[in-house]
Amino acid sequence: MSPLILACGLVAPAWASAQILVGSTVQVYQAPALDPMTMPTAVAAGPSGQVWVADGVSDRVLEFDASGGLVRSIEAVAGQPLSNPTAVAADEAGRLWIADSDHARVVWLGPGPGDQGELPIDLALLPGLDLTGVGVSPDGDLLWLVDNEQHRVLRGEVDAGIWAVMGSYGEGLGQLRHPFMVGVDDDGGAWVSDAIGARIVGWSAEGEARRPIGRFGVQPGQVFRPKGVAVQGDRVWVSDSTLGVIQAFSPGGKLLDVLRDEQGRILHLEGPTGLAVRGDRLFVVELTAHRVTELSIGTKVGQPYEAPVASVIGAEGTENQACSMCHLEMIPALSRGAADLLTSLPPNPKSEPYVSTEGACLSCHDGSVMDSRKAVWAMHGHPLGEPIPDDMTVPDHLPLVDGAMACRTCHSAHTEGGSGQVHRDALMVRVEDDIEELCVACHGDMQKGGGK
Ligand code: HEC
Ligand code: HEC
Ligand code: HEC
Ligand code: HEC
Repeated sequence: MSPLILACGLVAPAWASAQILVGSTVQVYQAPALDPMTMPTAVAAGPSGQVWVADGVSDRVLEFDASGGLVRSIEAVAGQPLSNPTAVAADEAGRLWIADSDHARVVWLGPGPGDQGELPIDLALLPGLDLTGVGVSPDGDLLWLVDNEQHRVLRGEVDAGIWAVMGSYGEGLGQLRHPFMVGVDDDGGAWVSDAIGARIVGWSAEGEARRPIGRFGVQPGQVFRPKGVAVQGDRVWVSDSTLGVIQAFSPGGKLLDVLRDEQGRILHLEGPTGLAVRGDRLFVVELTAHRVTELSIGTKVGQPYEAPVASVIGAEGTENQACSMCHLEMIPALSRGAADLLTSLPPNPKSEPYVSTEGACLSCHDGSVMDSRKAVWAMHGHPLGEPIPDDMTVPDHLPLVDGAMACRTCHSAHTEGGSGQVHRDALMVRVEDDIEELCVACHGDMQKGGGK
Protein backbone atom coordinates (compact mmCIF):
# COMPACT_ATOMS: atom_id res chain seq x y z
CA MET A 1 0.00 0.00 0.00
CA SER A 2 1.38 3.41 -0.94
CA PRO A 3 2.06 5.83 1.90
CA LEU A 4 -0.11 8.44 0.20
CA ILE A 5 -3.26 6.34 0.37
CA LEU A 6 -2.47 5.35 3.91
CA ALA A 7 -2.18 9.02 4.86
CA CYS A 8 -5.53 9.81 3.27
CA GLY A 9 -7.13 7.08 5.30
CA LEU A 10 -5.64 8.50 8.45
CA VAL A 11 -6.78 12.08 7.98
CA ALA A 12 -10.26 11.30 6.71
CA PRO A 13 -12.69 12.61 9.32
CA ALA A 14 -14.61 9.89 11.11
CA TRP A 15 -17.93 11.00 9.64
CA ALA A 16 -16.79 10.81 6.03
CA SER A 17 -17.86 7.21 5.88
CA ALA A 18 -20.82 7.60 8.22
CA GLN A 19 -24.22 7.08 6.67
CA ILE A 20 -27.66 8.48 7.19
CA LEU A 21 -30.89 6.60 6.46
CA VAL A 22 -33.16 8.09 3.82
CA GLY A 23 -36.73 7.09 2.98
CA SER A 24 -38.34 8.04 -0.34
CA THR A 25 -42.03 7.50 -0.98
CA VAL A 26 -42.66 4.86 -3.65
CA GLN A 27 -46.46 4.69 -3.43
CA VAL A 28 -49.38 4.75 -1.04
CA TYR A 29 -51.98 2.07 -0.40
CA GLN A 30 -55.49 3.37 0.08
CA ALA A 31 -58.94 1.86 -0.10
CA PRO A 32 -61.45 3.31 -2.61
CA ALA A 33 -62.81 6.72 -1.58
CA LEU A 34 -66.32 5.30 -1.16
CA ASP A 35 -65.15 2.67 1.32
CA PRO A 36 -61.95 4.00 2.89
CA MET A 37 -59.87 2.47 5.66
CA THR A 38 -60.50 3.86 9.14
CA MET A 39 -57.47 4.28 11.37
CA PRO A 40 -55.76 1.06 10.25
CA THR A 41 -53.15 -0.22 12.69
CA ALA A 42 -50.90 -2.87 11.16
CA VAL A 43 -49.32 -3.88 7.85
CA ALA A 44 -47.63 -7.07 6.59
CA ALA A 45 -45.63 -7.56 3.40
CA GLY A 46 -45.65 -10.96 1.71
CA PRO A 47 -42.89 -12.55 -0.38
CA SER A 48 -44.79 -12.06 -3.67
CA GLY A 49 -45.46 -8.38 -3.23
CA GLN A 50 -48.72 -8.75 -1.31
CA VAL A 51 -49.46 -6.02 1.21
CA TRP A 52 -52.02 -6.70 3.92
CA VAL A 53 -53.50 -4.00 6.13
CA ALA A 54 -55.47 -4.51 9.36
CA ASP A 55 -58.53 -2.25 9.05
CA GLY A 56 -60.07 -3.27 12.36
CA VAL A 57 -62.72 -0.58 12.68
CA SER A 58 -64.33 -2.02 9.53
CA ASP A 59 -63.74 -5.62 10.71
CA ARG A 60 -61.56 -6.53 7.75
CA VAL A 61 -58.05 -7.04 6.42
CA LEU A 62 -57.36 -5.56 2.99
CA GLU A 63 -55.00 -7.21 0.53
CA PHE A 64 -53.19 -5.11 -2.07
CA ASP A 65 -50.87 -6.13 -4.90
CA ALA A 66 -47.35 -4.81 -5.42
CA SER A 67 -48.59 -1.92 -7.54
CA GLY A 68 -50.98 -0.70 -4.86
CA GLY A 69 -54.16 -2.16 -6.37
CA LEU A 70 -56.79 -3.51 -3.98
CA VAL A 71 -57.05 -7.29 -4.51
CA ARG A 72 -59.65 -8.27 -1.94
CA SER A 73 -61.21 -7.56 1.40
CA ILE A 74 -60.82 -10.43 3.87
CA GLU A 75 -63.84 -10.36 6.16
CA ALA A 76 -64.17 -13.94 7.40
CA VAL A 77 -61.64 -16.69 8.08
CA ALA A 78 -62.11 -20.29 9.17
CA GLY A 79 -65.87 -20.02 9.16
CA GLN A 80 -66.23 -16.89 11.29
CA PRO A 81 -66.33 -13.18 10.43
CA LEU A 82 -63.38 -11.10 11.62
CA SER A 83 -64.13 -8.72 14.48
CA ASN A 84 -61.64 -5.90 14.92
CA PRO A 85 -58.55 -7.57 13.45
CA THR A 86 -55.77 -5.44 14.97
CA ALA A 87 -52.59 -7.06 13.69
CA VAL A 88 -51.19 -8.95 10.70
CA ALA A 89 -47.89 -10.72 9.97
CA ALA A 90 -46.56 -12.73 7.03
CA ASP A 91 -43.95 -15.50 6.86
CA GLU A 92 -41.63 -16.40 3.98
CA ALA A 93 -44.01 -19.04 2.65
CA GLY A 94 -46.56 -16.28 2.10
CA ARG A 95 -48.87 -17.35 4.91
CA LEU A 96 -50.77 -14.47 6.52
CA TRP A 97 -51.41 -14.44 10.26
CA ILE A 98 -54.22 -12.28 11.68
CA ALA A 99 -54.91 -11.31 15.30
CA ASP A 100 -58.72 -11.33 15.32
CA SER A 101 -58.88 -9.25 18.45
CA ASP A 102 -62.53 -9.15 19.50
CA HIS A 103 -62.74 -12.94 19.09
CA ALA A 104 -59.45 -13.43 20.96
CA ARG A 105 -58.30 -15.82 18.26
CA VAL A 106 -55.46 -16.06 15.77
CA VAL A 107 -56.26 -17.20 12.24
CA TRP A 108 -54.12 -17.88 9.18
CA LEU A 109 -54.63 -17.78 5.44
CA GLY A 110 -52.63 -19.23 2.54
CA PRO A 111 -50.23 -19.69 0.94
CA GLY A 112 -52.54 -21.91 -1.18
CA PRO A 113 -55.81 -20.31 -2.34
CA GLY A 114 -58.06 -22.39 -0.07
CA ASP A 115 -55.70 -22.75 2.91
CA GLN A 116 -56.98 -21.27 6.15
CA GLY A 117 -57.45 -22.15 9.75
CA GLU A 118 -57.61 -21.07 13.34
CA LEU A 119 -54.72 -21.51 15.72
CA PRO A 120 -55.64 -23.78 18.60
CA ILE A 121 -54.95 -21.76 21.74
CA ASP A 122 -56.50 -22.88 24.99
CA LEU A 123 -58.35 -19.69 25.92
CA ALA A 124 -59.39 -21.18 29.23
CA LEU A 125 -55.75 -20.78 30.25
CA LEU A 126 -55.64 -17.20 28.95
CA PRO A 127 -58.81 -15.43 30.10
CA GLY A 128 -59.19 -11.86 28.89
CA LEU A 129 -56.67 -12.21 26.08
CA ASP A 130 -56.43 -8.76 24.43
CA LEU A 131 -54.55 -9.28 21.17
CA THR A 132 -52.92 -6.18 19.68
CA GLY A 133 -49.82 -7.63 18.06
CA VAL A 134 -48.76 -10.68 16.09
CA GLY A 135 -45.34 -11.54 14.69
CA VAL A 136 -43.96 -14.62 12.99
CA SER A 137 -40.45 -15.90 12.32
CA PRO A 138 -39.46 -16.01 8.63
CA ASP A 139 -39.75 -19.83 8.58
CA GLY A 140 -43.22 -19.66 10.12
CA ASP A 141 -42.25 -21.87 13.08
CA LEU A 142 -42.37 -19.31 15.90
CA LEU A 143 -45.30 -17.04 16.61
CA TRP A 144 -45.33 -14.08 19.02
CA LEU A 145 -48.60 -12.59 20.30
CA VAL A 146 -49.05 -9.42 22.35
CA ASP A 147 -51.63 -9.33 25.16
CA ASN A 148 -52.00 -5.58 25.74
CA GLU A 149 -54.42 -5.53 28.63
CA GLN A 150 -52.44 -8.07 30.64
CA HIS A 151 -49.00 -6.69 29.85
CA ARG A 152 -47.51 -9.89 28.49
CA VAL A 153 -46.46 -11.68 25.33
CA LEU A 154 -47.00 -15.26 24.24
CA ARG A 155 -44.37 -17.26 22.41
CA GLY A 156 -45.70 -20.19 20.46
CA GLU A 157 -44.05 -23.05 18.61
CA VAL A 158 -46.66 -23.41 15.91
CA ASP A 159 -46.28 -27.07 14.93
CA ALA A 160 -45.58 -28.40 18.41
CA GLY A 161 -48.41 -26.33 19.88
CA ILE A 162 -46.19 -25.31 22.80
CA TRP A 163 -46.94 -21.90 24.30
CA ALA A 164 -45.04 -19.88 26.87
CA VAL A 165 -46.14 -16.65 28.56
CA MET A 166 -43.59 -13.90 29.24
CA GLY A 167 -43.68 -10.47 30.74
CA SER A 168 -45.66 -8.90 33.54
CA TYR A 169 -46.61 -5.34 34.51
CA GLY A 170 -43.64 -3.21 35.44
CA GLU A 171 -40.48 -1.40 34.43
CA GLY A 172 -37.88 -4.11 35.02
CA LEU A 173 -36.15 -6.41 32.58
CA GLY A 174 -38.76 -8.15 30.42
CA GLN A 175 -41.59 -6.20 32.03
CA LEU A 176 -44.24 -4.23 30.17
CA ARG A 177 -46.77 -1.43 30.53
CA HIS A 178 -49.28 -1.78 27.71
CA PRO A 179 -47.27 -3.64 25.07
CA PHE A 180 -48.74 -2.97 21.62
CA MET A 181 -46.96 -4.44 18.58
CA VAL A 182 -44.17 -6.90 17.85
CA GLY A 183 -41.43 -7.24 15.25
CA VAL A 184 -39.63 -10.55 14.79
CA ASP A 185 -35.97 -10.85 13.77
CA ASP A 186 -34.45 -13.35 11.33
CA ASP A 187 -33.79 -15.84 14.13
CA GLY A 188 -37.28 -15.62 15.58
CA GLY A 189 -36.51 -13.25 18.47
CA ALA A 190 -39.09 -10.59 19.33
CA TRP A 191 -39.02 -6.81 19.89
CA VAL A 192 -42.20 -5.44 21.45
CA SER A 193 -43.27 -1.77 21.58
CA ASP A 194 -44.18 -0.85 25.13
CA ALA A 195 -46.60 2.07 24.75
CA ILE A 196 -46.68 3.41 28.32
CA GLY A 197 -43.29 2.00 29.32
CA ALA A 198 -41.93 4.03 26.35
CA ARG A 199 -39.30 1.56 25.19
CA ILE A 200 -38.88 -1.55 23.06
CA VAL A 201 -38.69 -4.74 25.08
CA GLY A 202 -37.05 -7.80 23.58
CA TRP A 203 -36.78 -11.56 23.91
CA SER A 204 -34.49 -13.97 22.10
CA ALA A 205 -35.99 -16.77 20.04
CA GLU A 206 -35.51 -19.03 23.05
CA GLY A 207 -37.44 -16.61 25.25
CA GLU A 208 -34.64 -14.91 27.15
CA ALA A 209 -35.29 -11.25 28.02
CA ARG A 210 -33.00 -8.75 26.27
CA ARG A 211 -31.87 -5.30 27.29
CA PRO A 212 -34.62 -2.87 26.19
CA ILE A 213 -34.12 -0.30 23.43
CA GLY A 214 -34.90 3.41 23.84
CA ARG A 215 -36.44 5.37 26.64
CA PHE A 216 -39.02 8.08 27.24
CA GLY A 217 -38.40 11.48 25.65
CA VAL A 218 -38.37 13.57 22.50
CA GLN A 219 -34.68 13.52 21.65
CA PRO A 220 -33.10 11.27 19.02
CA GLY A 221 -32.92 7.75 20.40
CA GLN A 222 -35.92 8.37 22.65
CA VAL A 223 -39.57 7.48 22.16
CA PHE A 224 -42.79 9.12 23.33
CA ARG A 225 -45.44 6.70 21.96
CA PRO A 226 -43.60 3.77 20.37
CA LYS A 227 -46.00 1.88 18.13
CA GLY A 228 -44.80 -0.22 15.19
CA VAL A 229 -41.69 -2.42 15.18
CA ALA A 230 -40.08 -4.16 12.21
CA VAL A 231 -36.74 -5.94 12.24
CA GLN A 232 -34.38 -6.60 9.37
CA GLY A 233 -30.85 -7.85 9.88
CA ASP A 234 -29.23 -5.54 12.42
CA ARG A 235 -31.86 -2.81 12.15
CA VAL A 236 -34.79 -2.52 14.52
CA TRP A 237 -37.22 0.03 13.06
CA VAL A 238 -39.52 1.79 15.52
CA SER A 239 -42.33 4.23 14.73
CA ASP A 240 -43.62 6.91 17.10
CA SER A 241 -47.14 8.15 16.36
CA THR A 242 -46.97 11.33 18.45
CA LEU A 243 -43.52 12.46 17.34
CA GLY A 244 -44.37 11.33 13.79
CA VAL A 245 -40.96 9.76 13.21
CA ILE A 246 -39.28 6.43 12.53
CA GLN A 247 -35.95 5.52 14.10
CA ALA A 248 -33.57 2.63 13.49
CA PHE A 249 -31.69 1.03 16.36
CA SER A 250 -29.16 -1.75 16.58
CA PRO A 251 -30.33 -4.77 18.60
CA GLY A 252 -27.82 -3.58 21.20
CA GLY A 253 -29.81 -0.37 21.62
CA LYS A 254 -27.60 2.07 19.69
CA LEU A 255 -29.46 4.64 17.61
CA LEU A 256 -28.44 4.09 13.97
CA ASP A 257 -30.34 7.13 12.70
CA VAL A 258 -33.65 8.91 12.56
CA LEU A 259 -35.19 8.25 9.13
CA ARG A 260 -34.76 11.29 6.80
CA ASP A 261 -36.41 12.67 3.73
CA GLU A 262 -34.43 13.17 0.53
CA GLN A 263 -33.18 16.55 1.73
CA GLY A 264 -31.72 14.92 4.81
CA ARG A 265 -34.28 16.41 7.20
CA ILE A 266 -36.17 14.25 9.68
CA LEU A 267 -39.01 12.52 7.82
CA HIS A 268 -42.34 13.26 9.52
CA LEU A 269 -45.32 11.01 8.82
CA GLU A 270 -48.98 11.16 9.86
CA GLY A 271 -49.44 9.05 12.96
CA PRO A 272 -46.97 6.33 11.93
CA THR A 273 -48.10 3.09 13.56
CA GLY A 274 -47.62 -0.46 12.20
CA LEU A 275 -44.44 -1.22 10.24
CA ALA A 276 -43.32 -3.99 7.90
CA VAL A 277 -40.04 -4.38 6.05
CA ARG A 278 -39.13 -6.37 2.95
CA GLY A 279 -35.97 -5.92 0.89
CA ASP A 280 -35.23 -2.19 0.68
CA ARG A 281 -38.87 -1.29 1.31
CA LEU A 282 -40.39 -0.09 4.55
CA PHE A 283 -44.20 -0.12 4.79
CA VAL A 284 -45.65 2.38 7.25
CA VAL A 285 -49.25 2.60 8.44
CA GLU A 286 -50.17 6.28 8.70
CA LEU A 287 -53.09 5.81 11.05
CA THR A 288 -54.43 9.35 11.02
CA ALA A 289 -54.14 9.51 7.22
CA HIS A 290 -55.94 6.14 6.87
CA ARG A 291 -53.32 4.73 4.51
CA VAL A 292 -50.07 2.80 4.18
CA THR A 293 -47.01 4.45 2.68
CA GLU A 294 -44.27 2.42 1.02
CA LEU A 295 -40.81 3.93 1.42
CA SER A 296 -37.69 2.91 -0.41
CA ILE A 297 -34.84 2.94 2.11
CA GLY A 298 -31.39 4.06 1.07
CA THR A 299 -28.26 5.45 2.66
CA LYS A 300 -26.31 8.62 2.00
CA VAL A 301 -23.02 9.86 3.33
CA GLY A 302 -23.76 12.12 6.25
CA GLN A 303 -23.85 12.57 9.98
CA PRO A 304 -26.38 10.22 11.63
CA TYR A 305 -28.28 11.44 14.67
CA GLU A 306 -26.84 10.32 17.95
CA ALA A 307 -28.69 9.73 21.16
CA PRO A 308 -27.63 12.31 23.78
CA VAL A 309 -25.45 10.72 26.44
CA ALA A 310 -28.03 11.68 29.06
CA SER A 311 -30.56 9.47 27.35
CA VAL A 312 -28.50 6.44 28.23
CA ILE A 313 -28.21 7.27 31.92
CA GLY A 314 -31.33 8.96 33.26
CA ALA A 315 -32.77 11.08 30.47
CA GLU A 316 -34.01 14.56 31.07
CA GLY A 317 -37.78 14.41 31.28
CA THR A 318 -37.93 10.82 32.38
CA GLU A 319 -38.51 11.79 35.98
CA ASN A 320 -41.80 13.56 35.18
CA GLN A 321 -42.95 10.85 32.79
CA ALA A 322 -46.05 10.29 34.94
CA CYS A 323 -47.31 13.73 33.91
CA SER A 324 -45.62 14.30 30.56
CA MET A 325 -46.88 11.01 29.16
CA CYS A 326 -50.06 13.05 28.56
CA HIS A 327 -48.67 16.59 28.95
CA LEU A 328 -46.15 16.50 26.11
CA GLU A 329 -45.66 20.24 26.70
CA MET A 330 -44.22 19.48 30.17
CA ILE A 331 -41.11 17.82 28.75
CA PRO A 332 -38.39 20.33 29.68
CA ALA A 333 -36.43 20.18 26.42
CA LEU A 334 -39.60 20.84 24.42
CA SER A 335 -40.75 23.79 26.45
CA ARG A 336 -37.25 25.30 26.22
CA GLY A 337 -37.33 24.73 22.47
CA ALA A 338 -34.00 22.92 22.44
CA ALA A 339 -32.56 22.20 19.00
CA ASP A 340 -32.23 18.70 17.56
CA LEU A 341 -35.47 17.36 18.96
CA LEU A 342 -37.63 14.88 17.07
CA THR A 343 -40.55 17.30 17.08
CA SER A 344 -41.40 20.83 18.15
CA LEU A 345 -43.83 22.01 20.81
CA PRO A 346 -47.39 21.56 19.53
CA PRO A 347 -49.83 24.50 19.80
CA ASN A 348 -50.97 24.76 23.42
CA PRO A 349 -53.41 27.67 23.84
CA LYS A 350 -55.31 28.12 27.11
CA SER A 351 -58.59 27.74 25.22
CA GLU A 352 -57.61 24.23 24.09
CA PRO A 353 -54.51 22.85 25.81
CA TYR A 354 -52.59 20.31 23.76
CA VAL A 355 -53.30 17.65 26.38
CA SER A 356 -57.04 17.63 25.68
CA THR A 357 -56.87 17.64 21.89
CA GLU A 358 -58.11 14.77 19.83
CA GLY A 359 -54.59 13.72 18.85
CA ALA A 360 -53.45 13.54 22.46
CA CYS A 361 -56.35 11.23 23.34
CA LEU A 362 -55.84 9.11 20.24
CA SER A 363 -52.18 8.51 21.09
CA CYS A 364 -53.38 6.03 23.75
CA HIS A 365 -56.91 5.31 22.58
CA ASP A 366 -55.81 3.93 19.18
CA GLY A 367 -55.49 0.44 20.63
CA SER A 368 -52.04 0.88 22.12
CA VAL A 369 -53.51 1.40 25.60
CA MET A 370 -57.23 1.18 24.98
CA ASP A 371 -59.02 0.75 21.65
CA SER A 372 -61.62 3.50 21.33
CA ARG A 373 -61.37 3.91 17.57
CA LYS A 374 -64.83 2.54 16.99
CA ALA A 375 -66.51 3.98 20.08
CA VAL A 376 -65.13 7.49 19.67
CA TRP A 377 -63.90 8.14 16.18
CA ALA A 378 -66.39 6.05 14.24
CA MET A 379 -69.45 6.49 16.47
CA HIS A 380 -69.16 9.36 19.00
CA GLY A 381 -71.13 11.34 16.50
CA HIS A 382 -71.08 14.80 18.03
CA PRO A 383 -70.46 17.64 15.59
CA LEU A 384 -67.07 18.96 16.70
CA GLY A 385 -65.76 22.27 15.44
CA GLU A 386 -69.19 23.44 14.26
CA PRO A 387 -71.10 26.35 15.77
CA ILE A 388 -73.64 25.52 18.48
CA PRO A 389 -77.22 25.99 17.24
CA ASP A 390 -78.91 29.21 18.40
CA ASP A 391 -81.60 27.40 20.35
CA MET A 392 -79.07 25.58 22.54
CA THR A 393 -77.44 27.04 25.64
CA VAL A 394 -74.19 25.44 26.71
CA PRO A 395 -73.48 26.01 30.40
CA ASP A 396 -70.17 27.65 31.41
CA HIS A 397 -68.74 24.55 33.06
CA LEU A 398 -68.59 22.89 29.63
CA PRO A 399 -65.90 24.94 27.84
CA LEU A 400 -66.29 25.55 24.12
CA VAL A 401 -63.33 26.13 21.82
CA ASP A 402 -63.91 29.10 19.50
CA GLY A 403 -67.62 28.73 20.07
CA ALA A 404 -67.69 25.07 19.05
CA MET A 405 -67.65 21.73 20.81
CA ALA A 406 -64.32 20.00 21.32
CA CYS A 407 -63.18 16.96 23.27
CA ARG A 408 -62.55 19.10 26.35
CA THR A 409 -66.15 20.37 26.30
CA CYS A 410 -67.27 17.05 27.75
CA HIS A 411 -63.98 15.57 28.99
CA SER A 412 -61.80 16.84 31.77
CA ALA A 413 -59.02 15.64 34.01
CA HIS A 414 -57.89 15.71 37.63
CA THR A 415 -61.31 16.62 38.89
CA GLU A 416 -61.38 14.20 41.80
CA GLY A 417 -59.49 16.28 44.33
CA GLY A 418 -56.00 14.99 44.94
CA SER A 419 -56.58 11.71 43.14
CA GLY A 420 -56.81 11.25 39.42
CA GLN A 421 -53.13 11.87 38.85
CA VAL A 422 -52.51 8.39 37.57
CA HIS A 423 -53.28 8.00 33.88
CA ARG A 424 -55.77 5.26 34.64
CA ASP A 425 -58.15 7.55 36.49
CA ALA A 426 -57.09 11.05 35.51
CA LEU A 427 -59.57 11.44 32.69
CA MET A 428 -63.28 11.72 32.99
CA VAL A 429 -66.44 13.29 31.79
CA ARG A 430 -67.43 16.69 33.20
CA VAL A 431 -70.20 15.49 35.51
CA GLU A 432 -70.71 15.14 39.26
CA ASP A 433 -72.56 11.84 39.31
CA ASP A 434 -73.83 10.25 36.13
CA ILE A 435 -73.50 10.71 32.40
CA GLU A 436 -77.08 11.89 31.93
CA GLU A 437 -76.20 15.13 33.71
CA LEU A 438 -73.89 15.87 30.83
CA CYS A 439 -76.49 15.32 28.17
CA VAL A 440 -79.13 17.32 29.95
CA ALA A 441 -76.74 20.22 30.39
CA CYS A 442 -77.01 20.98 26.67
CA HIS A 443 -80.07 19.01 25.66
CA GLY A 444 -82.46 20.40 28.26
CA ASP A 445 -85.27 18.62 26.48
CA MET A 446 -83.75 15.26 27.30
CA GLN A 447 -84.84 15.77 30.89
CA LYS A 448 -87.92 13.91 32.07
CA GLY A 449 -90.81 16.23 31.29
CA GLY A 450 -88.69 18.04 28.71
CA GLY A 451 -88.10 21.79 28.39
CA LYS A 452 -85.47 23.84 30.18
C1 HEC B 1 -54.06 10.75 31.32
C2 HEC B 1 -53.52 12.00 30.91
C3 HEC B 1 -53.03 12.98 31.95
C4 HEC B 1 -52.09 12.74 32.91
C5 HEC B 1 -51.31 11.47 33.21
C6 HEC B 1 -51.91 13.99 33.62
N1 HEC B 1 -52.75 14.93 33.09
FE1 HEC B 1 -52.93 16.89 33.70
N2 HEC B 1 -54.44 17.18 32.37
C7 HEC B 1 -54.90 16.25 31.48
C8 HEC B 1 -56.02 16.80 30.76
C9 HEC B 1 -56.81 16.09 29.67
C10 HEC B 1 -56.23 18.10 31.27
C11 HEC B 1 -57.36 19.06 30.90
C12 HEC B 1 -56.94 20.17 30.02
C13 HEC B 1 -58.19 20.99 29.71
O1 HEC B 1 -58.62 21.76 30.56
O2 HEC B 1 -58.70 20.83 28.61
C14 HEC B 1 -55.20 18.31 32.30
C15 HEC B 1 -55.05 19.50 33.02
C16 HEC B 1 -54.00 19.74 33.86
C17 HEC B 1 -53.71 21.03 34.46
C18 HEC B 1 -54.52 22.30 34.25
C19 HEC B 1 -53.77 23.24 33.36
C20 HEC B 1 -53.76 22.80 31.95
O3 HEC B 1 -52.66 22.54 31.41
O4 HEC B 1 -54.84 22.67 31.38
C21 HEC B 1 -52.59 20.87 35.24
C22 HEC B 1 -51.86 21.92 36.05
C23 HEC B 1 -52.18 19.48 35.12
N3 HEC B 1 -53.06 18.82 34.27
C24 HEC B 1 -51.10 18.93 35.75
C25 HEC B 1 -50.75 17.58 35.71
C26 HEC B 1 -49.68 17.00 36.49
C27 HEC B 1 -48.76 17.76 37.44
C28 HEC B 1 -49.65 15.67 36.20
C29 HEC B 1 -48.73 14.59 36.77
C30 HEC B 1 -48.84 14.43 38.21
C31 HEC B 1 -50.72 15.42 35.23
N4 HEC B 1 -51.36 16.61 34.97
C32 HEC B 1 -51.00 14.18 34.65
C33 HEC B 1 -54.39 14.97 31.28
C34 HEC B 1 -53.45 14.35 32.07
C1 HEC C 1 -51.34 8.09 28.41
C2 HEC C 1 -52.42 7.32 27.85
C3 HEC C 1 -53.80 7.96 27.76
C4 HEC C 1 -54.14 9.15 27.18
C5 HEC C 1 -53.21 10.16 26.53
C6 HEC C 1 -55.56 9.26 27.28
N1 HEC C 1 -56.08 8.16 27.91
FE1 HEC C 1 -58.05 7.82 28.31
N2 HEC C 1 -57.54 6.10 29.25
C7 HEC C 1 -56.27 5.60 29.41
C8 HEC C 1 -56.32 4.42 30.23
C9 HEC C 1 -55.13 3.58 30.66
C10 HEC C 1 -57.66 4.21 30.56
C11 HEC C 1 -58.26 3.12 31.44
C12 HEC C 1 -58.47 1.89 30.66
C13 HEC C 1 -58.94 0.77 31.56
O1 HEC C 1 -59.39 1.04 32.67
O2 HEC C 1 -58.86 -0.34 31.09
C14 HEC C 1 -58.41 5.29 29.95
C15 HEC C 1 -59.78 5.44 30.06
C16 HEC C 1 -60.50 6.52 29.57
C17 HEC C 1 -61.92 6.71 29.73
C18 HEC C 1 -62.84 5.78 30.49
C19 HEC C 1 -63.30 4.72 29.54
C20 HEC C 1 -63.85 3.51 30.22
O3 HEC C 1 -64.76 2.91 29.63
O4 HEC C 1 -63.33 3.14 31.27
C21 HEC C 1 -62.25 7.87 29.09
C22 HEC C 1 -63.63 8.50 29.00
C23 HEC C 1 -61.03 8.40 28.54
N3 HEC C 1 -59.99 7.56 28.85
C24 HEC C 1 -60.96 9.57 27.82
C25 HEC C 1 -59.78 10.13 27.36
C26 HEC C 1 -59.72 11.42 26.72
C27 HEC C 1 -60.90 12.32 26.43
C28 HEC C 1 -58.40 11.63 26.44
C29 HEC C 1 -57.77 12.88 25.82
C30 HEC C 1 -58.07 14.11 26.56
C31 HEC C 1 -57.65 10.48 26.91
N4 HEC C 1 -58.53 9.60 27.46
C32 HEC C 1 -56.28 10.34 26.80
C33 HEC C 1 -55.11 6.14 28.86
C34 HEC C 1 -55.04 7.35 28.22
C1 HEC D 1 -70.87 15.70 23.88
C2 HEC D 1 -69.94 15.23 24.85
C3 HEC D 1 -68.67 14.56 24.34
C4 HEC D 1 -67.77 15.04 23.44
C5 HEC D 1 -67.80 16.36 22.69
C6 HEC D 1 -66.71 14.05 23.37
N1 HEC D 1 -66.99 13.01 24.20
FE1 HEC D 1 -65.84 11.38 24.50
N2 HEC D 1 -67.25 10.53 25.68
C7 HEC D 1 -68.40 11.19 26.07
C8 HEC D 1 -69.15 10.29 26.93
C9 HEC D 1 -70.47 10.63 27.60
C10 HEC D 1 -68.39 9.09 27.03
C11 HEC D 1 -68.73 7.84 27.84
C12 HEC D 1 -67.99 7.96 29.14
C13 HEC D 1 -68.22 6.84 30.11
O1 HEC D 1 -69.03 5.97 29.82
O2 HEC D 1 -67.54 6.85 31.17
C14 HEC D 1 -67.20 9.29 26.24
C15 HEC D 1 -66.19 8.36 26.11
C16 HEC D 1 -64.96 8.61 25.51
C17 HEC D 1 -63.83 7.72 25.51
C18 HEC D 1 -63.77 6.33 26.11
C19 HEC D 1 -64.26 5.45 25.00
C20 HEC D 1 -64.15 3.96 25.28
O3 HEC D 1 -63.48 3.28 24.47
O4 HEC D 1 -64.73 3.48 26.26
C21 HEC D 1 -62.84 8.36 24.84
C22 HEC D 1 -61.45 7.83 24.55
C23 HEC D 1 -63.35 9.63 24.42
N3 HEC D 1 -64.65 9.75 24.83
C24 HEC D 1 -62.63 10.54 23.67
C25 HEC D 1 -63.16 11.68 23.12
C26 HEC D 1 -62.46 12.50 22.19
C27 HEC D 1 -61.05 12.23 21.68
C28 HEC D 1 -63.28 13.53 21.86
C29 HEC D 1 -63.00 14.65 20.88
C30 HEC D 1 -62.70 14.19 19.54
C31 HEC D 1 -64.51 13.34 22.60
N4 HEC D 1 -64.40 12.19 23.33
C32 HEC D 1 -65.61 14.19 22.56
C33 HEC D 1 -68.81 12.46 25.71
C34 HEC D 1 -68.18 13.27 24.81
C1 HEC E 1 -71.78 20.71 25.05
C2 HEC E 1 -73.16 20.51 24.64
C3 HEC E 1 -73.61 19.07 24.43
C4 HEC E 1 -73.56 18.03 25.31
C5 HEC E 1 -72.92 18.01 26.68
C6 HEC E 1 -74.21 16.92 24.68
N1 HEC E 1 -74.65 17.30 23.44
FE1 HEC E 1 -75.65 16.11 22.12
N2 HEC E 1 -75.53 17.58 20.74
C7 HEC E 1 -75.00 18.83 20.91
C8 HEC E 1 -75.03 19.56 19.67
C9 HEC E 1 -74.52 20.96 19.44
C10 HEC E 1 -75.62 18.70 18.73
C11 HEC E 1 -75.88 18.98 17.24
C12 HEC E 1 -76.99 19.95 17.07
C13 HEC E 1 -78.31 19.37 17.37
O1 HEC E 1 -78.61 18.27 16.89
O2 HEC E 1 -79.12 20.03 18.05
C14 HEC E 1 -75.93 17.45 19.43
C15 HEC E 1 -76.55 16.36 18.86
C16 HEC E 1 -76.90 15.22 19.55
C17 HEC E 1 -77.62 14.11 18.98
C18 HEC E 1 -78.07 14.02 17.56
C19 HEC E 1 -79.37 14.71 17.45
C20 HEC E 1 -79.79 14.77 16.01
O3 HEC E 1 -80.86 15.30 15.78
O4 HEC E 1 -79.05 14.31 15.16
C21 HEC E 1 -77.81 13.18 19.94
C22 HEC E 1 -78.50 11.84 19.85
C23 HEC E 1 -77.16 13.70 21.13
N3 HEC E 1 -76.63 14.94 20.85
C24 HEC E 1 -77.10 13.03 22.32
C25 HEC E 1 -76.36 13.45 23.40
C26 HEC E 1 -76.13 12.64 24.57
C27 HEC E 1 -76.68 11.23 24.79
C28 HEC E 1 -75.35 13.37 25.40
C29 HEC E 1 -74.79 12.97 26.75
C30 HEC E 1 -73.82 11.87 26.67
C31 HEC E 1 -75.10 14.66 24.74
N4 HEC E 1 -75.74 14.65 23.53
C32 HEC E 1 -74.37 15.68 25.28
C33 HEC E 1 -74.49 19.32 22.10
C34 HEC E 1 -74.28 18.58 23.24
